[in-house]
Amino acid sequence: MSVTVRVPAKVNVQLAVGAARPDGFHDLANVFLAVGLFDEVTVTPAAGLRITCEGPDAAQVPLDGTNLAARAAVALAERYGRTPDVHIHIAKDIPVAGGMAGGSADGAGALVACDELWGIGASRVELLDICAELGSDVPFSLVGGAALGVGRGEKLTVLETGGDFHWVFAMAERGLSTPAVFREFDRLVAVADSEVPPPVASAGLLDALASGDPDALAVSVSNDLQPAALSLFPALADTLAAGRAAGALTALVSGSGPTTAFLARDAGAARQVAEALAASGTCRSVRVAAGPVPGASVL
Ligand code: C5P
Repeated sequence: MSVTVRVPAKVNVQLAVGAARPDGFHDLANVFLAVGLFDEVTVTPAAGLRITCEGPDAAQVPLDGTNLAARAAVALAERYGRTPDVHIHIAKDIPVAGGMAGGSADGAGALVACDELWGIGASRVELLDICAELGSDVPFSLVGGAALGVGRGEKLTVLETGGDFHWVFAMAERGLSTPAVFREFDRLVAVADSEVPPPVASAGLLDALASGDPDALAVSVSNDLQPAALSLFPALADTLAAGRAAGALTALVSGSGPTTAFLARDAGAARQVAEALAASGTCRSVRVAAGPVPGASVL
C-alpha cells in the first residue's frame, strides 16, 4: 500500500521583510499564492527511512536526513511514538533552491502522506504545528490557496481571491540559498544605514487579490528580498527586463529567488510571454502556471 500527495509551488506576491530578530529570523508580511506547479510525494512502508527523487533537478535534492520530507516523517513518527519506516519518493517538478517553496512542499507532502499511511489522523492544528517546526514556508504548502503569513511567515490567515492569476516562471541557471539572501538583505540594510520599518501587508494588494484583477495585482506586488537576490545574482535583471519587454504586466523575483515571476493578463498572454522569455536566452527554462490552487492533497 502507498499514499501519494500532490503539493503546489508558491509565489510571493508581497514579501515585506522587517529587521533581523535576535533569533536571526526576520518578521515578515508574506502574501503567498499557490500556483499549479507540483511535486508529488509517495510514501510506501519500508524496512527503514529512505528517500528517492526523480525529475529534471533531482540530482540537486539531498537524499539524507536533511531533506524536509525525511524530517517531516521523523517529526510525525516521534510525536506518535513509532518508527519512520517508510520509503519516500519525490516526483519533483518544482525548481530546487528556486524561491518557490519546493523543499517546503516536500515536507508538507510527506507529512500528510505519512499521516494517511500510518492511519494517524492528526488534526489540522497538529499538522500545522509540525509544519511550522520544519520551516517558515511549510505551513503554507499544507494550506495552499492564498494566505498572509506573519511572524517568520508561518502564522497564516487565509485570503480571499476573486479569480485565477496567470503566471510565467523563468528558472535560473543556478539556485540561491535562502539564508544567504536574507544575510545579503541584512548587509544591504547595514550599508544603507537605514531603519527597517515593521512589515505590513498592503491593503491595495489584498484588495487586488480579492478582486481577481491582474492589472490591480500587477501594480501592488512587491518583494523586499529582490534587491538582495539581484545583488547576489545580477543577471536576473536581464530576465526581468526580457519578461517586461515581452508584455508581462509585472515582473519580480519569486521569494528569495532566483526564479523570476511574470504576471500576465490571461492564459494566452502568459503563453506569449513564456515563448519570448524562452527565446531570450536569459534563463534555463520557462513554465506557465496559474493560481490559486489547493495545498497538499492526497491523490
Ligand atoms: O524557516 P526556514 O528554515 O525555511 O528558513 C530558512 C532560512 O531563511 C533561515 O535559516 C533564515 O536564515 C532565513 N529566514 C529568515 N526569516 C524568516 C524566514 C527565513 O531570516 N522569516
